[in-house]
Amino acid sequence: MCGIVGYIGTKKAYPILISGLSRLEYRGYDSAGISTIENDGLSLMKDKGRVKNLSNLDGIDNLEGTIGIAHTRWATHGKPSKENSHPHQDNSKTFSVVHNGIIENYNELRKFLENNGYTFYSQTDTEVIPNLIHYHFSKDDKNDNLKFLRAVKNACLELKGSFAIEVISILYPDNMIVVRQDSPLVIGTCEDEKYLSSDIPAILSYTRDFYLLNDLEFVVLTRNSAKFYDENLNEIKKETQTIEWNASAAEKDGFDDFMLKEIYEQPTAIRETIGAKINLDSKCEFDELGFTKEYLSSINKIYIVACGTAMHAGLSGKNAIEKLCKIPCEVDIASEFRYRDPIIDEKTLCIFISQSGETADTIAALKLSKEKGAKTLAISNVIGSSITREADYSIYTHAGPEIAVASTKAYTSQVVLINILAIYFAEILENSDMESLTKLKQDILDLPKKIEESLDCSDEIKKFAKQIYQEKDVFFLGRGIDETVAREGSLKLKEISYIHSESYAAGELKHGPIALIENGITVISILTNKDLVKKSVSNIQEVITRGAKTLVVTNQEIDRNMFDTVITIPETNCFISPILSIIPLQLLSYYISKEKGLDVDKPRNLAKSVTVE
Ligand code: AGP
Repeated sequence: MCGIVGYIGTKKAYPILISGLSRLEYRGYDSAGISTIENDGLSLMKDKGRVKNLSNLDGIDNLEGTIGIAHTRWATHGKPSKENSHPHQDNSKTFSVVHNGIIENYNELRKFLENNGYTFYSQTDTEVIPNLIHYHFSKDDKNDNLKFLRAVKNACLELKGSFAIEVISILYPDNMIVVRQDSPLVIGTCEDEKYLSSDIPAILSYTRDFYLLNDLEFVVLTRNSAKFYDENLNEIKKETQTIEWNASAAEKDGFDDFMLKEIYEQPTAIRETIGAKINLDSKCEFDELGFTKEYLSSINKIYIVACGTAMHAGLSGKNAIEKLCKIPCEVDIASEFRYRDPIIDEKTLCIFISQSGETADTIAALKLSKEKGAKTLAISNVIGSSITREADYSIYTHAGPEIAVASTKAYTSQVVLINILAIYFAEILENSDMESLTKLKQDILDLPKKIEESLDCSDEIKKFAKQIYQEKDVFFLGRGIDETVAREGSLKLKEISYIHSESYAAGELKHGPIALIENGITVISILTNKDLVKKSVSNIQEVITRGAKTLVVTNQEIDRNMFDTVITIPETNCFISPILSIIPLQLLSYYISKEKGLDVDKPRNLAKSVTVE
């Protein structure tokens, strides 16, 4: 999705802006641009293509301005082109604007502005914003020091949709105004300088102190101040938050790609996520929640709502919640949930999982649940992200910044956190056998070491990747919790290797998909549940008979000679087995993508953070 960067300080802005944009490249984009305040007006440098091309644009080296805004665009309205790239300016070139999000009523606003003499040069929704600011500015007779802010505020209150906006003006050479609604934007602050970005890692090397904005809070920035206003322009107080992430955690640290680094960071990510929550001699602790037995006994249904990989983590959590807490749990895709009028009320607990915390559909589903009276609980990897500010309660995975588009350590951290949450609920409800809970806790504590052991399969997986990287179709099979891992393995493969793949509950094979199995096709199976292993093996036997090449990921005793490749992972509790069984599949996707020479971290058409619907 689009990325936003901004700088106001004492140094030349353009190199800082370009470097910030490069750190946001992982979000996915097709064009880039910057605008700075120069002595003779607002500069505007933009084009379609890569961020690095900006450095070759004529005149960029001559920019001296110390205030500027920058943007990477992911086309929604209008094709990737210079005209459609951001920043956009009003017709008089008084205001430059970058925008992340979608203006739903832009057609209406555009017509209104055209009727008032404005001309449009792009097909974007964004171009209405600078012109609308100009419109309000020129209609305002007061010449006080809030005039710029008033114009931005009046324009924003007319916008429907989502936006994170930065505005600079040649008339206010020492100011920048920013605001957000349902789109991410953070402000890093240090003495004499402010850094802005769509996410924290991009500016973490400059500061650890951040202002996190709520919807429709307007900020007027100067080099050494940040003033916050509500939508009635009453000044509000805001404290900075210190982010503990290590800046080097956002670099590659000697790995070829962020994805590989993040796969290998999983033992640490899980250790950090477990933190001090699990103690074998006492109950699990979530200081942020403080749920009572009375409240948990009143819940008649839990919904887990998320998108993509986060939804797969939710699917694996359903098992633990239902079995340990005896509360019915449904898992839904956020984009479906929000439009299907789900049956929820004040007795429903809705859990929303999002690595970024900024996924538009997940946020909308959360808002809907609140409207319907449900209690909402957010699970995110990003402190202060939108879902955590919307939800009644928030808990965090501590996976550290995840840069690669394909989610790996965030997924395993989410799976572990939901399991700890299920134990926390079960201990309060006192309706589960305490001995099995303690055993599960021990298994969770053993995970980091077992993940390290699972990573040892890397060479074998690399070999298998070389054998199958040219395939056109791959199938993933599993039963029970292994079926959720089959889905995640299949998604990983599609995302970064562009190989068509499908995942099926192994028992469904005979009901149709087996018609697709032919000589030489690759079938990958996950077998971690001893109660289902015989059934699954007989399903794999059916595809072998039809000529399939097989890879099996297992922690069970099986006849290895039956299969082409068997990857053994350590044994663990079934609830948390996805954390170990996904690892060979993450590595497989990675090595196939490398074998094909693809861009692992930034796969085509995908964005890290899907902030529009
Ligand atoms: C994961 O590999 C994907 N890139 C994608 O499915 C992702 O999990 C999904 O977009 C949800 O993102 P979120 O966790 O930030 O909400």
